[in-house]
Amino acid sequence: MSLALPPTSAVTVRAPAKVNLELRVGPVRDDGFHALSTVYMAVGLHDEVTVTPADEWSVEVTGAQADLVPTDASNLALRAARSVADELGLDEAVQVRIRKDIPVAGGMAGGSADAAATLLACDGLWSAGLGRDELGELAARLGSDVPFCLAGGIAMGSGRGEQLAPVLAASGRYHWVFALADAGLSTPAVYAECDRLREGQDVPDAVPSPAMMAALRSGDAEALGAALNNDLQPAAFSLQPGLSDVVEAGLEFGALGGLVSGSGPTVAFLTGSAEGALDLAVSLTASGVAGDVRRATGPVAGAHVVPGEHVG
Ligand code: C5P
Repeated sequence: MSLALPPTSAVTVRAPAKVNLELRVGPVRDDGFHALSTVYMAVGLHDEVTVTPADEWSVEVTGAQADLVPTDASNLALRAARSVADELGLDEAVQVRIRKDIPVAGGMAGGSADAAATLLACDGLWSAGLGRDELGELAARLGSDVPFCLAGGIAMGSGRGEQLAPVLAASGRYHWVFALADAGLSTPAVYAECDRLREGQDVPDAVPSPAMMAALRSGDAEALGAALNNDLQPAAFSLQPGLSDVVEAGLEFGALGGLVSGSGPTVAFLTGSAEGALDLAVSLTASGVAGDVRRATGPVAGAHVVPGEHVG
């Protein structure tokens, strides 16, 4: 099947990074993934993806740390684009251009955000009208965090993280500081280290914590800071021992809470205000604890088309 497309058409989509406010890791499942109970928040760091009709599949990455992103067939955004074409039975190719602002291999779902953005962009480019449910199914096949990057906001994740449920009555706007690490961590390596550290232990099923739910309902940043938790943190500390010093320093500098984001190594700190976030960012860099810091607020919307960029 071939759709008549003007040669200049292009669609640009922005997708957000995530932080796991809570990441509870249960037993390993038969498929090798871990059963999770997590709470995601989308935060205001975005990657931007533009898809353009092309004779051959290709991906081009620009922006911070672009050189760390693979541009071969393993690129998750390219796989996302192909999955939409396959779903539609289309014999079309696209060029995927990714403008990166989300840390690469940082535990903030950068690759998943690119995949989510690409799904939505291809849906727009090919006027497929797949809808959020169908896109969500394609997203889940690509990776555990991809459905959340489509959805945004605050959501509970179960299964391997891909089954989403809204957190009802969540309120508040939160100010975050992210301390970036020089070297990334591989997600499978962090899960494997988590397994190694827990060897011989009876791992209980992962369930949401009442403290996290209560904090989200209250909209109180102090309560949320105290409730932040991540079962992967000991594994990330074990693989990058300097990370525990970063968390400790941020808390000493007055953060309401701090934890490794997802599988790390980015460390996320919650503060009480925009000024508090600026002060913390300055303290972290001035003290030399963190080289590169970013500030962002959350929650923010999931993947969305950038208006005016849809030509054709
Ligand atoms: O789903 P995603 O591609 O993001 O997962 C990357 C890797 O992280 C998986 O291959 C697996 O090793 C690990 N993982 C896991 N349990 C999960 C999610 C991810 O073990 N629930």
